Amino acid sequence: MAKKRMALAGVGGFGGSHVRVISKLVEQGELECVACVDPNLESCKDNVDILRGLGAAYFTNYQEMLDAHPDLDFVALATPIALHKPMAIEAMRRGMHVLTEKPAAVLLEDAVEMAAVSQETGKRLAVQYQNTSGEAFNKALELIRNGEIGELQRVTGLGMWKRTDQYYERTGWAGKLKHGGSYVLDGTLHNPFSHLFYNTLTAAGRGDALGAVPVSVQAELYHAHTIESEDMACLRARMANGVEMLLYTTLCAGDNRPEPYIRMEGSKGTIMWHYNDILHWTGANGEEQTVDYSADFQPNELMSRLYRNLMAAMDDPSQRLYASIDGSIHYLTVTNGAFQSSGAVHTVPDSAIDRFPEGGSMATYIRDIEATMEACAQAGQLFSEYGVSWAVPGTQVGAEELADVSKHWWRTDK
Ligand SMILES: NC(=O)c1ccc[n+]([C@@H]2O[C@H](COP(=O)([O-])OP(=O)(O)OC[C@H]3O[C@@H](n4cnc5c(N)ncnc54)[C@H](O)[C@@H]3O)[C@@H](O)[C@H]2O)c1
Repeated sequence: MAKKRMALAGVGGFGGSHVRVISKLVEQGELECVACVDPNLESCKDNVDILRGLGAAYFTNYQEMLDAHPDLDFVALATPIALHKPMAIEAMRRGMHVLTEKPAAVLLEDAVEMAAVSQETGKRLAVQYQNTSGEAFNKALELIRNGEIGELQRVTGLGMWKRTDQYYERTGWAGKLKHGGSYVLDGTLHNPFSHLFYNTLTAAGRGDALGAVPVSVQAELYHAHTIESEDMACLRARMANGVEMLLYTTLCAGDNRPEPYIRMEGSKGTIMWHYNDILHWTGANGEEQTVDYSADFQPNELMSRLYRNLMAAMDDPSQRLYASIDGSIHYLTVTNGAFQSSGAVHTVPDSAIDRFPEGGSMATYIRDIEATMEACAQAGQLFSEYGVSWAVPGTQVGAEELADVSKHWWRTDK
């Protein structure tokens, strides 16, 4: 494969992880980093110096960088979410491929527009859901495709973490529905568990998120922290391929919580994928098997694979992307539909919550949430269906309403 010429937009924050991945790929002779851009040099000077050391020119303005380097093969975008769409579209229109950070966008119609430009220009637009490149996860997809568990029927993702108030105080858009005039819908679905979500969707699409076309969504969104958006969600999405996808997420768990996992149930067996890339499965022959790739499940290694995947796709249009903008259309159909279904972000009553000091901040714990979520996930029920006392049922949102965002209650701009 010929060495590709690239530039990085957004060098601070999570851009630092891109700098480490780019450095490794440059060192291995796979990549040339010719430019980078970030208007806030003081917050990313060390990273800029690393890229300068690799031969990259530093810019403070994206358009100026693209003007100066019209022959880039691709740009990587590690910028704030609201910039992904304009930056990706501009790069594709200038003939460049794009690797954008997740989520590609917040609103369904923005992902649709980005996908249309990708289609029109013939430029690939990959989304940085790096956990899709894990080896055990891909083994799970292979087992599904090969019919090892029979006909896939249900995919359940469960993610529980703990975040103190400090997490929401770190930046202005944290926990907000809208910030600076743009939607952020910052919550478990779009941010901390977006990787778990996208992998669950990929499995529900029988190995490719493109196959997971949602026909209905029912969801319940809650907050226990004092935030606008959700810090806990449960949802059910039915797919056109007959697969039921269930997702349970919270940032209000205690220390005694399981690692996030995805359970894939078929007519003849079950696969369990654990977040550290360990896989257990029981196939049609009843034999239990395990593969453990946890040692390789390092963010930089996973991200390197997404870079290589996009670079291979530039040379071979038939190359499948781990996560493409088209998959993000299905992802956003479900997340946007989840807000519509829930009707509001409901407040968990104080009587169900413990708040206590932790690490110089305050922790919020929903009592027994670990057991409650696991029981709901086991039963395939949403909180209200399971009989959780504070739960509020969401409506079932069908395909037409999912697509017609103008009817969505949370769209205050319509
Ligand atoms: N894949 C992952 O696991 C993962 C983890 C964390 C964050 N992210 C994603 O990475 C992205 C960036 O998140 P963050 O927390 O680092 O954000 P951030 O607000 O820290 O911004 C990142 C960088 O972009 C720069 N920037 C702002 N405006 C710019 C512009 N016009 N041109 C160029 N650079 C500009 C900022 O100065 C900053 O250095 C988000 O999409 C986020 O969801 C992904």
